[in-house]
Amino acid sequence: MEWSAEDRVFVLTGAGISAESGLATFRGSGGLWDGHRVEEVATPEAWRANPELVWRFYSMRRRDAMAAQPNAGHKALAMLEARLGERFYLCTQNVDDLHERAGSRRVHHMHGTLFMSRCVRCGELFADREMYETAAALPKCGVCGQAVRPHIVWFGEIPLGMDDIYDELYQATVVLVVGTSGSVYPAAGFVEIANERRIKTIYVGPEEPLNAYAFDEIVLGTAVEVLPGLVG
Ligand code: OAD
Repeated sequence: MEWSAEDRVFVLTGAGISAESGLATFRGSGGLWDGHRVEEVATPEAWRANPELVWRFYSMRRRDAMAAQPNAGHKALAMLEARLGERFYLCTQNVDDLHERAGSRRVHHMHGTLFMSRCVRCGELFADREMYETAAALPKCGVCGQAVRPHIVWFGEIPLGMDDIYDELYQATVVLVVGTSGSVYPAAGFVEIANERRIKTIYVGPEEPLNAYAFDEIVLGTAVEVLPGLVG
């Protein structure tokens, strides 16, 4: 695709972009939730009922993400950013750090990040790559001594930085969506906002997302197959 000097590109990624790095998607077969029901591990209620189970789950995801490497899809987006600079913005629903490790800089993790934790009481936020896998190992806040939770947006919680996301979305001339099923809002609604503003919209993934009707263009194929050519 040709990118003009006037283009501002807003990219939304989902679990599909990390699939070829070996990280399971949520809803695919063998998906991440298959062994664990969502409400057992990714809700505030689950946290209150069983923080040890929740921390075991996110420790496993930390381990998986650390072992994974960015793929050609992540790298293609980083190369596009290197050309467009401030005119590129990447909003990801993913909590892994593969975009950053591929070289992306303007990355926003709307559903939080695996490698940060925060205090449930004072909100102290800190970088954290530890595994907490037993009740005795559960972390406590260094400032106030209260429990520490993953810095992850759980079901029923509000995604992070929505004002900044909408600011970027409204300024975009192209919205490129990669590897997300279009089933979780508000991210699934970005394409409709783009349509209202007549912003060009493109979806990349091996199958049509639930909100396929809303896209101007659908490119069927995996992130690794499609993105290097699309952004090149
Ligand atoms: P899903 O698991 O719902 O969807 C993954 C999408 O990736 C599907 O549409 C697949 O077709 C596509 N896909 C699979 N392999 C791909 C590949 N190699 N290249 C490109 N696309 C591929 O994951 P998300 O849409 O990211 O939220 O899920 C959205 C949110 O739901 C997650 O952020 C998480 C989850 O519950 C929270 O945890 C708050």
